[in-house]
Amino acid sequence: MPALAVRYRDRLPIGEGTPLVSLGEGDTPLVHAPRLSERLELDLWLKAEGANPTGSFKDRGMAIAVARALEAGAKAVICASTGNTAASAAAYAARAGLRAVVLVPAGGVPAGKLFQAAAAGARLLEVRGTFDQALVAARELADGGEFALVNSLNPDRIEGQKTAAFEIVEELGVPDVLALPYGGGGNTCAYARGFEESGGGVPRLLAGEASDRAGTGASAIRIARPAHAIEAAAAIGRSGGAVVPLADDEIRDAWRLLAEQEGVVVELSSAAGLAALARETGGGGVRAVCVLTGHALKDPQTSPGVATIQVEPDPEAIAKAAR
Ligand code: F0G
Repeated sequence: MPALAVRYRDRLPIGEGTPLVSLGEGDTPLVHAPRLSERLELDLWLKAEGANPTGSFKDRGMAIAVARALEAGAKAVICASTGNTAASAAAYAARAGLRAVVLVPAGGVPAGKLFQAAAAGARLLEVRGTFDQALVAARELADGGEFALVNSLNPDRIEGQKTAAFEIVEELGVPDVLALPYGGGGNTCAYARGFEESGGGVPRLLAGEASDRAGTGASAIRIARPAHAIEAAAAIGRSGGAVVPLADDEIRDAWRLLAEQEGVVVELSSAAGLAALARETGGGGVRAVCVLTGHALKDPQTSPGVATIQVEPDPEAIAKAAR
């Protein structure tokens, strides 16, 4: 499959002079979920965005944002991040030969994501503060002209991310409901735009947010003030959908259901869409797509419990323990 920027060139801000920066993003699996469909009385599909090159949906937008930054003559990119944007920015900047400076809330980001950003050579700065504070600083530094901002406030990010909706429409048509996690709201806006541009209507958007935004254990969506709140609320409203505030326990329960019922393991925050869906749809066999935003291995520490049993390398002992 050609790169997103090639496949959807006519629907993206890609011109003759825009360089191609791609790690093979997009074209992610859309997997049917038969057991959860039965349980929730839905026709449920899972869009596995963890299959992107750095393990999250951010890569779709980053491929476009970094290409455009390169085209504009930028030498460095900057972002604030709860981790996934950082990993993605670092990888795409490395690919493009740009410097990346990533700001993360100190102590608030899982090791896997820090590792990805550092491994790709980003300048990884742990800010003693929140994601929201780091974003204010990143915006100010970008305004100074030295850095291109690659947070989703950069419209090229949203443009790239809308391609996930194109893929769903191509494969399945427009579903009745689309459920996804809601952090800053950029991805919600991106899906709304992608469906709008596809011309077949927009599904009911269910955006699952942590009810304790500032303190949730779902670190990827630990964002007190969503940067896209106004635009996201408008898009959700137009679609007849809802923002669904979720207790951390509900997100964990949804995470467990996905893993145990379907064998689909994701990072904790990514289960917020399913949690919203479980609460809000009345079943009725409607077709729903749940966007799974990030890969399981990003964040094994804070995901719900891993139980192991140690055994001797003795078949009898193992057989006993295996029961
Ligand atoms: N799911 C995951 C795994 C995320 O990393 C994020 C956001 C979201 C959902 C929410 O998406 O912000 O567009 O509403 N992560 C950002 C980051 C904040 O820095 O990686 P949103």
